Amino acid sequence: MKIAVLPGDGIGPEIIAQARLVLDALGESFEIEEAPVGGAGYEAYGHPLPPQTLELAKAADAILFGSVGDFKYDTLARELRPEQAILGLRKHLALFANLRPAICYPELTAASSLKPEIVSGLDILIVRELNGDVYFGSPKGIRTASDGLFPGSREGFDTMRYSEPEVRRIGQVAFTAARKRGKKVCSVDKSNVLETSQLWREVMTDLGKSYPDVELTHMYVDNAAMQLVKAPKAFDVVVTGNLFGDILSDEAAMLTGSIGMLPSASLDIKNKGLYEPSHGSAPDIAGKGIANPLATILSAAMMLRYSLGKEEQATRIERAVQRVLADGLRTVDIYTVGTIKVGTVEMGQAVLKALA
Ligand code: IPM
Ligand code: MG
Repeated sequence: MKIAVLPGDGIGPEIIAQARLVLDALGESFEIEEAPVGGAGYEAYGHPLPPQTLELAKAADAILFGSVGDFKYDTLARELRPEQAILGLRKHLALFANLRPAICYPELTAASSLKPEIVSGLDILIVRELNGDVYFGSPKGIRTASDGLFPGSREGFDTMRYSEPEVRRIGQVAFTAARKRGKKVCSVDKSNVLETSQLWREVMTDLGKSYPDVELTHMYVDNAAMQLVKAPKAFDVVVTGNLFGDILSDEAAMLTGSIGMLPSASLDIKNKGLYEPSHGSAPDIAGKGIANPLATILSAAMMLRYSLGKEEQATRIERAVQRVLADGLRTVDIYTVGTIKVGTVEMGQAVLKALA
């Protein structure tokens, strides 16, 4: 089995290094190959997603991705910015299903900004559509307005669009996931205003009939943003479009007090996937040896489970992570008084030890 490892920018290389050590320690014969992506791709080959990197990703059975982005690339043309790497991979590999768990580990409840009783035991799965919506809808651009409130002025425009099959396939992912969890799906839209959402809601409602064992509810996105801070434990699986999912998944991740802990998967129709930590490249702490490698290590576990069919190894890693948390080890992002502060490498070493 071939794994493409794309470390990227910022803290990406540091956290990926720890995840690689964990993969190496499993005793499996994976073929692992690294390639530059994001700002690193731009530096090496003049493009955030160099053709060689894309080819490697296409040829692999799974992709382990660090993170991309740095302030220093903010002035580049949009198509050369690091973010284009992840958007390009999602599009070229048809990775339409983004699974973003938000779990509040009991040991880390105190690190949440919400009251412990609101978040302790929280376990939500956000299923975000990743190939459509305003992110990729055409037309988009900047032009001179021919109508509207200020004709003749410059205007920016994007297109929100979803076809029925796109909604249906992401809905199927959500319902299937819910069956293995709390058997509840909340579909989030803005159907009181948007036609795209109107269709979204119709398709979800229809699809729900094929899953009578799963409870389907609908919620407007503004209300969902409120409910997520008010009573997040009421949610099980949340399914939503690309843009709403981008925003709500950050909100949900923050509830847990441990965005440095959260893995994610982006899957195609055959469960080939790209796995990445939910947090970003954190350029402000890059190179300091303090980044939390656990989200990346847990992303590797998700990769073993969903794309490589190695459930046992996935569980082994997750148990090892639980063990180091139980032992009181914390990187600075999840540190609270009375626990033991460690750096990136020490945390990785501790997971290795717990694995053994
Ligand atoms: C994410 C990120 C990306 C997105 C950016 C980096 C393009 O915020 O994965 O959530 O908007 O999807
Ligand atoms: Mg985001």
